[in-house]
This record gives sequence, structure tokens and C-alpha cells, in this order.
Amino acid sequence: MMGRSTVWGSRNAGFRPENLGQDALAMIRNLGFTVFVLGVLIFTIIAATYQPEDPLFHPSTKMTNFLTSKSNATFKADDTVVKTGEDFIGANQTAFATFINLTDVDIALPVTETETGNELECQGKTDEPIDCKDPDVFHLLMKATIEKFKDVHFYKFGKPVPGSNETSCHMAWRFRPKEGKSAAFYKDYRNFVISRSENCTLSVVDIGEYHSGGNARKRKRDRKKAGKSEEGFEKAPKTEDQGIALPVVGEAVNDSLPVVESESSFSRGKYLIYHGGGDRCKSMNHYLWSFMCALGEAQYLNRTLVMDLSICLNKMYTSSGQDEEGKDFRFYFDFEHLRDSASVLDQTQFWQDWTKWHRKDRLSLHLVEDFRVTPMKLAELKDTLIMRKFGSVEPDNYWYRVCEGETESVVQRPWHLIWKSRRLMDIVSTIASRLNWDYDSVHIVRGEKASNKEQWPHLAEDTSPEAVMSSLKDKIEDGRNLYVATDEPDISFFDPLKDKYSTHFLNEYKDQWDEKSEWYSETAKLNGGNPVEFDSYMRISVDTEVFLRGKKQVETFNDLTKDCKDGINTCTSST
Ligand SMILES: *[C@@H]1O[C@H](CO)[C@@H](O)[C@H](O)[C@H]1NC(C)=O
Ligand SMILES: *[C@@H]1O[C@H](CO)[C@@H](O)[C@H](O)[C@H]1NC(C)=O
Ligand SMILES: *[C@@H]1O[C@H](CO)[C@@H](O)[C@H](O)[C@H]1NC(C)=O
Ligand SMILES: *[C@@H]1O[C@H](CO)[C@@H](O)[C@H](O)[C@H]1NC(C)=O
Ligand SMILES: *[C@@H]1O[C@H](CO)[C@@H](O)[C@H](O)[C@H]1NC(C)=O
Ligand SMILES: *[C@@H]1O[C@H](CO)[C@@H](O)[C@H](O)[C@H]1NC(C)=O
Ligand SMILES: *[C@@H]1O[C@H](CO)[C@@H](O)[C@H](O)[C@H]1NC(C)=O
Repeated sequence: MMGRSTVWGSRNAGFRPENLGQDALAMIRNLGFTVFVLGVLIFTIIAATYQPEDPLFHPSTKMTNFLTSKSNATFKADDTVVKTGEDFIGANQTAFATFINLTDVDIALPVTETETGNELECQGKTDEPIDCKDPDVFHLLMKATIEKFKDVHFYKFGKPVPGSNETSCHMAWRFRPKEGKSAAFYKDYRNFVISRSENCTLSVVDIGEYHSGGNARKRKRDRKKAGKSEEGFEKAPKTEDQGIALPVVGEAVNDSLPVVESESSFSRGKYLIYHGGGDRCKSMNHYLWSFMCALGEAQYLNRTLVMDLSICLNKMYTSSGQDEEGKDFRFYFDFEHLRDSASVLDQTQFWQDWTKWHRKDRLSLHLVEDFRVTPMKLAELKDTLIMRKFGSVEPDNYWYRVCEGETESVVQRPWHLIWKSRRLMDIVSTIASRLNWDYDSVHIVRGEKASNKEQWPHLAEDTSPEAVMSSLKDKIEDGRNLYVATDEPDISFFDPLKDKYSTHFLNEYKDQWDEKSEWYSETAKLNGGNPVEFDSYMRISVDTEVFLRGKKQVETFNDLTKDCKDGINTCTSST
């Protein structure tokens, strides 16, 4: 898509739709115009029928050019995954985070002798409620948890709290998959059913499902006061103290919009806003690439970025097949992290305050209408608001053009400020947890590519169930849990794989986004009470992220087929 729009833009450089009327007669005499009309027609047809698939997919370890590109900061391919800040925090950077093992638990909380040997005292008391606050209970639960979940590392246990009845306690903990390559932490909280035997020994008889222990899920308090908010057991040093913010998936999200405290704080502020432009309704990659440029410029200028939280979702991700306006930034990205680590303000609130106070407080506006005016030239401005206005001619009206040229070496895109939505990542972590973080994964690209024999001559064959079976034979042991990430709508197509593997597909986990799910109610809340569609961008995100958490990962390109990801003869550039 991008490639084509660029061609369109450059071929018609200088052409302005509003001039069409007056120039039309002159142009019609011009043969060039016929060519132009044909061009537009062909472009339109291509645009209407072109449906890129899996724009998000790519292997975890291979960094795409997209984010690390040094090539004049120009946006390149569209067919890449949106990598966000947390993906760049390598596991090695967080190696200092030491996990808790059984030995630590035994040392920290040795079993007391109070109950053992007191057989007489507890006769007839086996029905007494369990005291979840008892250190012995805490010890017992930690031990049972560490013993049960062999494929994760534990970093922190919260003190147990009473559960749903007298024999159950809820406990929360922070963990990471043992073999994970990413730096994120996950939070789990589960229900424990505890029984007391005749001689008073306590034992855990059941550990509930992922996130079954809601009472232990504390609402996170204000970050600044967070120091003592979570009591429990953890191994020093605290990971957050090392200066790298890390996402904690599963923690309650508070992504309410920032508020301006007072007139004086508003009027003292300095703001940057980007207005208009051709970026709207383009791919999510394009959106981020442009948004990051704006955010980078705001940071460079030490200004608050006034942003539009309403996103237009490109038709390649919608079920209606139309571009859809009114999607919330928070459906896709972690606004809480952005709000807490950068200075941003929602434009609705901004304009309200501006309207109220700009005359009275003589707040000034500096308008910039040419993207070639560099951020460096704006650095000295004292105006309250700098507004960059973008015209209607693509591609000169793309926001990211501000960051091209000499600006590239001055303004860095602050990727660390953008993380994926933790609500989506929570779905990922639920799926992985249901598979006990012990599964292998395969990504099977079919869709349009499989039917395009010219560009992908072998793909259809190489992704048939029989071919996949034989490719997986030496890679994945029989009987393993196998997560299949795919764009193939007919899942029964892969039934033959069931002979050897226990297969799992995204659709099995519909309960994670259906009417009863937390995701559903929380996104509806952000959406003025209206239900939010679990669109295909979200779908592909979750599918991708679950795939990336498999112990062994088998990709389509390179692993299953020798065809190239981006079509025939593109292998050297895309891998
Ligand atoms: C990119 O920058 C190089 C020099 O750094 C320049 O030679 C080249 O023309 C630029 N390309 C584009 C497309 O602007
Ligand atoms: C982490 O590993 C990457 C390569 O895997 C390396 O480039 C980077 O310097 C490492 N970072 C640290 C802090 O060791
Ligand atoms: C637990 O960690 C300690 C050091 O932190 C280590 O000496 C011990 O071997 C570990 N035990 C197990 C069972 O991994
Ligand atoms: C307490 O709740 C658990 C499930 O949370 C259930 O298994 C157990 O039977 C309940 N016990 C009583 C006494 O109701
Ligand atoms: C208490 O009873 C349980 C079984 O009911 C047994 O496994 C345990 O060893 C006993 N403990 C002591 C200290 O007698
Ligand atoms: C959410 O965060 C904002 C800003 O930090 C805070 O003012 C607000 O009280 C929080 N809301 C809840 C429910 O914790
Ligand atoms: C932004 O603030 C930093 C630190 O206060 C300062 O070094 C820098 O020069 C400022 N940048 C601009 C463009 O004013």
C-alpha cells in the first residue's frame, strides 16, 4: 500500500485536486492526462482489491528494518509487525532480576513448629476456617505454586487474602516464562483450596485457573505512592529500581485521560499539536511511524504533545471492509505507560481549556505549514502552542516527513514510550497460561499469498497439512501442545495435525473477548459503553504474540517453505 501511494504521490507531484476544475480543459488536450486518468483507475482498482494479509507478522528475534532503519528515517515496508518498546528491552538487559526458588522460600519463611506436634489441640478443629494471613499458609501456598508451575520463574509473591469461602485463599504473584525472550512481567492471582488434616497439617488440594483469585488482585495505586502498596515476598533487588520500566501484564489497567489541574498550569505549559495530514486510515505501522515522529519532536522541544486518541482503523483490519473511524488508541497501545512516562494530553481536553483561557491569558499560537521547517528551527519559540498543519497532497502531508533529512540525526523516535495494550497482552498471557507456558508454535501463512502462484509458487503446497506434518516431524515431538497461528479461516483444514499433536487455535479462546470477558467490559467502558469489535489487528497481534511465546517456533518462510516472504526473488532483502 505504502509503495503504491508513494508512486502515486511522486508521479503527480505538484498536482492539486482543487486546481482540477480550472486546468481541466487544458489538461484534456494533453495526452498526459489520459495516462493520468488511466493511472488513477488502475490505482483505484488495485487499491480496492489489494488486501495485504498478516501485516503484523514477523519472527521475534529478527529485528525488521522498519524500526531500526537508518535510511533517512523514511517509512519503508508495510508488511512488518508493529514492534513496540517492550520488544526492545532484551532479556539480557534485565538479567539482574533474580527469581525466587524453593530454597529461597524455605530460608525466608521456615515452617514454624506451632502446629506440628499439637495434635490434641486441633482435634475437632479441622473444619475451622483457614487463616490466609498466617505466615505458614503463605509459605505453603508459595511452595505449592513454585512446585506446580515448572515453566515459569517467580519474582514476587503477594500475601494471601481470604478467598470465596472459609477453605480458600487468594494469592497473587509476578512471573516470567522461563524461556521467554521478552522482558515483560506477568501477574497472576489464583484461588487455592486448602484442607486441614486430622493432625492439623495444611495442604493445598486445588489451585484454580489463571486469574481465578480476584481478591488478591490489588488495584494499583498511584505510581508515586506505590512503594508500599504490595506487601509480600520478593527477592531483592527490586527490578524497577534499575531504571528500566517494564510492563506487568495482568495488573489492573488505569488508562484514564490526563487532566489539567488548573488554569495556571495549563497556561504555563508549552504544547505541540499535529493537525490534518494524509496519515489517517493508513496501516497501523504508518500510524505509529508518524505518531512517533510527532512524539519525538514534542520531546525534543520539551513540549506536551496534544494527541488525538481517536484512531482510524484501516480496512485491512476491519470486518466491514471499510476504514473505520473512532477506534481508541487504548484498544491497541498502553496509554497508561505513555501518559506516565511522557507529557501528553488529549486534544478534546486541550481545546476546551484553550478556548476557555487563551484570550485571557494571551496564549499564542505558532502555525507551521511546511514540514521542511525543522524542529531545530522551532526550538527557540516561546509560543504556548506550536501547530503543525499538514495539507492534502500525499506524500508531503505525512507526519513522518518532519523527521526526515537533517532532523533524523537530532530527533529520535521514543519507541520506549509505546507498549502494546496490556489488555491484549493479558489475553496472550491467559492463552499461554492455559497451555502452562509449555507449548510449541507454528505460523502458517496461507490466505492470499497461497493463491498467488506467481509470487509464491510453492506456498500452497508447502503449507498443506501433509507438508506441515512432514516439516514438523524432526522439529516438534509427538504429543506436544502445538499453537497454530494462521490466517487460514477454515481451521478444520489442519485436522490431520491432530493425529500427532494437541493443536490449539486462537478461536478456542473466544471467551477472552466475548460478552462475558473482562476485555469486553473494559473496552466498552473506554468506548462510551458501546461494545468494541475484536478486530483483525487485535486478532493478529494476539496470534503473533502467543506464537512468539512458544518454546519452539516454526515460521512459514524459511522453515516451511523456500518461497520468499514478500514474493518471488525478495528473500535477500526481507530476511
Ligand atoms: C538519504 O540520505 C542520503 C545521504 O545521507 C542521500 O544521499 C539520499 O539521497 C537520501 N535519500 C532520500 C530518498 O532522500
Ligand atoms: C543484549 O544483547 C544484544 C544482542 O543480543 C546486544 O546488542 C546488547 O548490547 C546486549 N545488551 C546488554 C545490556 O548486554
Ligand atoms: C535457588 O537459588 C539459589 C541462589 O539464589 C541457588 O543456590 C539454588 O541452587 C537454587 N535452587 C534451585 C532448586 O534452583
Ligand atoms: C470453597 O470454594 C471452593 C472453590 O473456590 C470449593 O471447591 C469448595 O468446595 C468450597 N468449600 C466449601 C466448604 O464451600
Ligand atoms: C498428618 O497427616 C497427614 C495425612 O493426613 C500426613 O501426610 C502427615 O505426614 C501427618 N503429619 C504429621 C506431622 O503427623
Ligand atoms: C487513575 O490514574 C489517575 C492518574 O494517575 C488518577 O488520578 C486516578 O485516581 C486513577 N484512578 C483509579 C481508579 O485508580
Ligand atoms: C529541553 O530541556 C532540556 C533539559 O531541561 C534542555 O537541555 C534542552 O536544551 C531543552 N530543549 C529545547 C529544545 O529547549
